[in-house]
Amino acid sequence: MPVERTLSIVKPDGVARNIIGDVYRRFEQAGLRIIAARMLQLSQADAEAFYGVHRERPFYKDLVKFMTSGPVIVQVLEGEGAIAKNRDVMGATDPKKATLGTIRADLATSIDENVVHGSDAADTAAREIAFFFRETEICPRTR
Ligand code: CMP
Repeated sequence: MPVERTLSIVKPDGVARNIIGDVYRRFEQAGLRIIAARMLQLSQADAEAFYGVHRERPFYKDLVKFMTSGPVIVQVLEGEGAIAKNRDVMGATDPKKATLGTIRADLATSIDENVVHGSDAADTAAREIAFFFRETEICPRTR
């Protein structure tokens, strides 16, 4: 399994509910290394651009409103098969459909407020990482 990088976001609900540590513990226990991280508040323009792929979806407006409602933490996760592994750790988008033990099954309150975002494929991961981080801000482990 090749080593990959993926973009993860702890969404405004996760930050507001003080469960950042719980989310990070789950990444680390799954063998995902946090190699870059930053807290920020998304502007309307940032959120619209980041989720541009969903522009035509009925939930787009609410999604942008929610993602700009408070601070988020963005992080790059690295590990073997990190993209799929992170999606396993997160669970299904809708917490009602997520497997027990996943972040969304255990911690999320709805499909809109579902605690975390994670890139869904290699091309998306590259685009989403570059959206938030310069290469010099990413710190792969040397030990
Ligand atoms: P995320 O992985 O951040 O990608 C887009 C977000 O839109 C998704 O998580 C959900 O929080 C939100 N969303 C709301 N309704 C839907 C839906 N019907 N299908 C997919 N995503 C949805």
